[in-house]
Amino acid sequence: KQRVLSGVQPTGNLHLGNYLGAIRNWVEAQSDYDNYLFVADLHAITVPHDPKELASNTYNLVALYLACGLDLNYSTIFVQSHVSAHSELTWLLNCITPLNWLQDMIQFKEKAVKQGENVGVGLLDYPVLMSADILLYQADFVPVGEDQKQHLELTRDIVNRFNHLFAKPDQPVLKLPAPLIRKEGARVMSLTDGTRKMSKSDPSELSRINLLDTPEQIANKIKRCKTDPIRGLTFDDPERPECNNLLTLYLLLSGKNKEDVAAECQDMGWGQFKPLLTETAIAALKPIQEKYQAIMADKGYLESVLREGKQKAEAVANQTLAEVKAALGYTIPH
Ligand code: TYM
Repeated sequence: KQRVLSGVQPTGNLHLGNYLGAIRNWVEAQSDYDNYLFVADLHAITVPHDPKELASNTYNLVALYLACGLDLNYSTIFVQSHVSAHSELTWLLNCITPLNWLQDMIQFKEKAVKQGENVGVGLLDYPVLMSADILLYQADFVPVGEDQKQHLELTRDIVNRFNHLFAKPDQPVLKLPAPLIRKEGARVMSLTDGTRKMSKSDPSELSRINLLDTPEQIANKIKRCKTDPIRGLTFDDPERPECNNLLTLYLLLSGKNKEDVAAECQDMGWGQFKPLLTETAIAALKPIQEKYQAIMADKGYLESVLREGKQKAEAVANQTLAEVKAALGYTIPH
């Protein structure tokens, strides 16, 4: 089987963007691949973080992975910081990555502005750590949302550079990964501004629906979300970004196909559509929330999942790390 790798940062609540852009796609395709899915807790400290929350956020995220339907028969679930090869390979890749490649990253530029003068080296280096995550597992595919595309391109550049410098042409050391980005859901937009992506860092809670929101919260957020004064709802109208976003949410959460949704909603007004979307979102999230509560009640189970995940991940990661070190000229005493 070909290998899939992906991860999410344990920074607070997961929202519908994370679910529809990434996790749901992992779950749907998991039986076709050998999957390595992790909690990116080393990435989580590239901006100021609270040590008291790191561990609980990590556990919550693992529980949410399982609640969303990841199946241990197909998927290895682990925590990035448990596998030290991630940090070690990052250093080795740092030394072959040109600084200006990192300075050009859009996410770095956006986040660096917010950090002002105190921006850390880790934030700049974030995409190299992400490359290490992917390359350690020799992943074929990386299912992510649209916002990670540039990081994947950087990863491919690093692979080509590394293999060019340190591998024989017919024996690459690192595998070239490809992004898997679905058309629908790749960029879920904010509920309060259809031109900006739904994001964990938006100060307004009203801008996003979290996977663990109560039915009342979901209803309130949809009731207050931004719309337009036009009657009749259509996909793909550039003048109506909110309309396209809300219809896409309905499409993905209902599981219907696009033509059916387009036909169903073409004569609707917002007063009719909003309750429909609310009901659909609540129904789609309910089973995940119930499963999440059940898993969270069994800490011992979560511990055992992570113990096993660490072992399986380490076996693969350490193998690649050894190959990279050998290619760079390092030796290990016997
Ligand atoms: P993170 O934690 O910001 O987001 C996790 C996943 O959710 C996707 N996503 C979205 N998709 C659609 N619409 C949105 N509004 C939206 N917001 C977020 C992201 O694209 C991502 O797939 N750097 C990564 C974590 C990471 C990683 C990796 C991913 C670390 N190492 C290796 C893949 C492979 C990140 O910060 O994702």
